Amino acid sequence: MTQLTKTIILAGVYCFLSLNQVFSQLTTIPIETQHHALVLQVAENQDLNIIYFGKKLSRAEEYGQVPGVYRQSEDYTQMLNAAYTASGSRNLLEPAISVTHADGNKSLDLKYVNHQQERIDENVSQLSVVLKDPAYDFEVTLYYKTYQQHDVVEQWSVIRHGEEANVTLHKFASANLYLKADSYWLRQYHGDWAQEMQPEETRLTHGIKTLDTKLGTRANLFQPSVFMVSLDKIATEDEGQVLYGALEWSGNFRIDLELDPLDNLRIMAGMNNYASDYSLPSGEAFQTPAFLYTFSNQGKGLASRNLHNWAREYKILNGEGNRLTLLNNWEATYFDFNEQILKGLLSDTKQLGVDLFLLDDGWFANKYPRNGDTAGLGDWEPNREKLPNGISVLVEEAEAHNVKFGIWIEPEMVNPKSELYENHPDWVIKQPEREEYYFRNQLVLDLTNPEVQDFVFGIVDDLLTENPELAYIKWDCNAVIYNAYSAHLDQQSHLYIDYVRGLYGVLERIRQKYPEVPMMLCSGGGGRVDYAALQYFTEFWPSDNTDPLERIYMQWEYSYFYPAITSANHVTDWGKQPIKFRTDVAMMGKMGFDIVVDELAPNDLKFCQQAIDHYDTVKDIIWHGDQFRLSNPTESNVASVMYVDEAKSSGVIFNYLVNNRYRVGSHSPIRLKGLDADKQYRVREINLYPGTPSTLDPEKIYSGDFLMNIGFNPDVRVGRNSVVLQLNEVQ
Ligand code: DGJ
Repeated sequence: MTQLTKTIILAGVYCFLSLNQVFSQLTTIPIETQHHALVLQVAENQDLNIIYFGKKLSRAEEYGQVPGVYRQSEDYTQMLNAAYTASGSRNLLEPAISVTHADGNKSLDLKYVNHQQERIDENVSQLSVVLKDPAYDFEVTLYYKTYQQHDVVEQWSVIRHGEEANVTLHKFASANLYLKADSYWLRQYHGDWAQEMQPEETRLTHGIKTLDTKLGTRANLFQPSVFMVSLDKIATEDEGQVLYGALEWSGNFRIDLELDPLDNLRIMAGMNNYASDYSLPSGEAFQTPAFLYTFSNQGKGLASRNLHNWAREYKILNGEGNRLTLLNNWEATYFDFNEQILKGLLSDTKQLGVDLFLLDDGWFANKYPRNGDTAGLGDWEPNREKLPNGISVLVEEAEAHNVKFGIWIEPEMVNPKSELYENHPDWVIKQPEREEYYFRNQLVLDLTNPEVQDFVFGIVDDLLTENPELAYIKWDCNAVIYNAYSAHLDQQSHLYIDYVRGLYGVLERIRQKYPEVPMMLCSGGGGRVDYAALQYFTEFWPSDNTDPLERIYMQWEYSYFYPAITSANHVTDWGKQPIKFRTDVAMMGKMGFDIVVDELAPNDLKFCQQAIDHYDTVKDIIWHGDQFRLSNPTESNVASVMYVDEAKSSGVIFNYLVNNRYRVGSHSPIRLKGLDADKQYRVREINLYPGTPSTLDPEKIYSGDFLMNIGFNPDVRVGRNSVVLQLNEVQ
């Protein structure tokens, strides 16, 4: 990031007094964004505590008065609100950090030393606070990177020591927060294959609620790290205080939400310390991944829009750019294809009108051909029987059709039935003395090993060197880590962490050499998406479940955290809905198809072709505009989601019937959001199936005021169960 301005304030404990300190005589450090503040304070004993978390106050000097207006019960430890809770001294609750020192002692006490504020640019600032143990040469620096306009904060820690031998880190959170409210409502997610992002929203009770994963690679399969906490009552789309949190880490994570004896909420988030004691040599820095949060006091909708804008601008690879529509062959052919069939699909790609053809699993391996999921993974030469002329002939054929070509890989994995496994059994994560146990007949390669890292980098590098025109990569990851053991590592407890670091190292190298090539992050569905991975990927695959009815709910939940531009949605044969319904749902993100084009009925094909044209007219709004969730499918018979451009002059609204009972439908108008009350708009239905007239009058004009206060009725009902509206300002 370019540093426009750099203001550095170095503050020693004894030498720095600001306005509020004159009042409180204690060093107070507000970490503010446009609407939010997290306020740290140095206590008389030099502990660093959190004294406020919430809506920004207009007078910063009043933060110091916040603790004085609470009459909660006694904090015997005087550290329930620690900014980074050390264990083994006075602490009685869940720590953020716990260690064993070089001399075997397990106590840690962290005292404030100084802080430094750095202004990176108009929008971004970074605060670092150094904490030290008075008894040991051990320190932690806390980092808080703030994004003013977006109300987003990234928080991480760097741990160092100068002790005589290694120190063992047992727990090493990225962030430690402290919130005060009358009640706390956690929205968390669980899932499995084809069932990603299933929400549960409950009141937190006293004790600890832990969100975590121990799966290693496909880490989010059962639970992603994204969550939200509403304060006092469950926030709605437009009202209430809500914190969204997520860990920027693609491996094991652990988030502890502890309602403490004073009824305050402690949140400790970081890499999972499960089976992961980390031995840290003297002088080395151990950096945790960033924990990301945004806080809204105007409900969930604003929190999402802030996060979407932040993510597009600062995180997602090419987040503000364009995406390619595509035809994928996975569900059309599975493993059963050859050059001729693929050439036919390339011509279908052209006929359909999408940008790219994506060749999925099954194109590689010779000794153990990849004709199913039991063999060949790891042997990345094109299969000579299926593709006697290799990949390059297909890339050329694509060019001849004026479409692009993309390819599937699963580079972190190996089938035991493969030459890779035969030649490099020591590259595989497995217990040497135990029977192998498989997930989808495969094992995970040991990415802690630099030779394996080179191999994985080489898969991508070879493909792109041999086929410079290759325009897209789908990176899959189907197995979890069983029998965690690395033949490469001396310290087995480093495996889960060093695996992810090895993965990021490879992705970093790929992006240095190939900064632009779009890549889809897939993990047998949405088993892996997070904001660390999305720095290297342009989009993710939310789920193998493409039943559009299911996708309405799943995409809704993902949309709280991830912008539509990252959500790869394909039209497939899953579900019972007609092609129009399936296509409309796929449009609410990055659209693709995975169907047998030449088996489509003539009108279905015509509809798809026209839908791609319509998509071209609205995709910019979907990808880069503001999203408003209008009608929640879990609360209503109609789901409705709207996207509006920055100028508030164009929008698109997707509406679906999610219940088939007698006479259900959009009986009342749906209130639109995000418009200019003073502008005039025309709303017309698009994406109609050939020969089906709209029931809506395309000539009617409404003010933004009317549309936002009274609403618009899309006339969703049985027989019209999917309605897409385009909205345009009338000058
Ligand atoms: C799992 C992915 O989610 C699917 O889309 C497909 O690529 C298969 N793997 C291929 O094996």
